[in-house]
Amino acid sequence: MTITVDKPILDPCCGSRMFYFDKSDERVLFGDCRRENISLRDKSSKSGVRHLSINPDRMIDFTRLPFSNESFHLVVFDPPHLVRNGRSGWLAKKYGKLGENWRDDIASGFSECFRVLMPNGTLIFKWNEQDIKVSEILKLTDQKPIFGNRCGKTAKSHWLVFMKGAEA
Ligand SMILES: C[S@@+](CC[C@H](N)C(=O)[O-])C[C@H]1O[C@@H](n2cnc3c(N)ncnc32)[C@H](O)[C@@H]1O
Repeated sequence: MTITVDKPILDPCCGSRMFYFDKSDERVLFGDCRRENISLRDKSSKSGVRHLSINPDRMIDFTRLPFSNESFHLVVFDPPHLVRNGRSGWLAKKYGKLGENWRDDIASGFSECFRVLMPNGTLIFKWNEQDIKVSEILKLTDQKPIFGNRCGKTAKSHWLVFMKGAEA
């Protein structure tokens, strides 16, 4: 089924929307493959408990997006990056975890994100190199990033910017 959209921005794996200034930004269609509320003990938080809410506008799978070609001006793709962490770990709960077929899944995710982008649309890609180097991930798409930035305490988080159809 194809969903008709009237929003300019797609986030197909929004998680708990941590990186948004406004977690209810009306311009964004928030998707994720799960809907859940999680509470975990956390000594670093004041109450001793940390809550996480994953509540997408739509439950979707980034490997098979239910949108027509060329639907969005901007797509932000921040897929799970963990392979080794236990599924019960806080990080895995927060960020999700890649399965055995992660290469196929990320390749399909890139392909789907570019399919639903308008010509010259922008893809923002976020990746953390805890388990897999960004150079390995970039082999999974034929599109070339224009520029990017590393951040985080250990400089393992990458933000990369692509433009659909912009030849290198
Ligand atoms: C790194 S987290 C996203 C964090 C988010 N950007 C934030 O600011 O909180 C990755 C998310 O991708 C979701 N996910 C995993 N596989 C998916 C799939 N096939 N389709 C859609 N979402 C998926 C996970 O549930 C997880 O919430």
